Amino acid sequence: MTSRFGLNSWRAQPLYMTIIRLWLGVTWTYGGWAKATDGGYLDKASTNYFGAQINGMIGHSPISFLLTHMLEHATLFAWFVMLSEFAIGIAVLAGVALQAATLGGLSMSIILWLSATYNVHPYFLGSDLPYAVLWLSFFFMVRKSNNGRGRHDGGLLPNLRDRREVMRIAGVAVASVIAAFAGGSFRPKKSAVSAIIAKSADVKIGDVKQFTAVDGSPAFLFRTKAGVFAYSRICTHQGCTVNYDSLGNQLACPCHGARYDPTNNGAVLAGPAVTPLPKIKVAIVGNNIVQI
Ligand code: FES
Repeated sequence: MTSRFGLNSWRAQPLYMTIIRLWLGVTWTYGGWAKATDGGYLDKASTNYFGAQINGMIGHSPISFLLTHMLEHATLFAWFVMLSEFAIGIAVLAGVALQAATLGGLSMSIILWLSATYNVHPYFLGSDLPYAVLWLSFFFMVRKSNNGRGRHDGGLLPNLRDRREVMRIAGVAVASVIAAFAGGSFRPKKSAVSAIIAKSADVKIGDVKQFTAVDGSPAFLFRTKAGVFAYSRICTHQGCTVNYDSLGNQLACPCHGARYDPTNNGAVLAGPAVTPLPKIKVAIVGNNIVQI
C-alpha cells in the first residue's frame, strides 16, 4: 500500500478538491500565523489575550462550562490552539494524515462556532459554521477519493505502525513549532511613542480616569498629590476587566473577586489573583498626561 503525500497528493485529486484543500490549508496556516504574530494574543495585559477573548464568550455560549475550564489554563490553551491551527493547515497542504487533519479542522470549527459565533444572526453571517460544513464535505471527499482508488492514503487515524507516516507527522509538528516561534519574532514591539491620555487640566488631584492604553487594552489613570500613575484593567487571574471601587479606593474584579491596591503598585489585596496589576508608565508632559 502506498500513501500519497506532498505534490503527489495534489496531482491525484480532482480540481474541486484542490480548490477546497488549498483554501482550508492556507486559511488554517494563516490563522496560526495571525496568532503567532499578534503582540497581544499571549499577553495577559492585552485585550487581544486569548484568555480575554474566552472570557468575553462565557455567558453567551452553550459550552460556557468548557470555556470556564479553558480560562483556568488560558495561556496553555492559547498555545494549543495556535499550534493546532498550524498543524492542521500544514498537514492539509502537505497531504499528511489528511483524514485526521480534516477531522481536526472540523472539530475546531464546531468549537469556534459554539463559542465565538453562536450568537451571530442570521447564522450564515458567522464564518465558523460554514467552515464546519466545508471541513465535513472535504472529509468525505478525502475518504471517497481514497476508497475509490482502493488505496490506503492515511486512514481515519494515522497509521502509527508506518514509520514513514510517523516521520511525516513529526515533520508537521516540528514545522508548526518552528512557525509559531518564527511568528513571535514578527510581533510588533510595544510602542515607544508617547500617547496623550488627557489634558493635564482635565484631570484633577484625586481623579480616576479610564483610558485605552497604546496596545489597545483598557486602563485606569490615577492622579494624586504625588503625581500620575496608571494600571492595566486586565485582571491577572484570568483576564476579566477590573473596575474602580471608589468607596474602598481599590480595583475590583467582578469575575472571582480579586482586589488590587492602586496606592501600592497594584498589589493584590484579595485573591484568587496572585500577581499585581501591570503598571502603565505615564507622565505629565507640558499640558498633557501621556503614556510613555
Ligand atoms: S479573572 Fe478571576 S479574579 Fe479576576
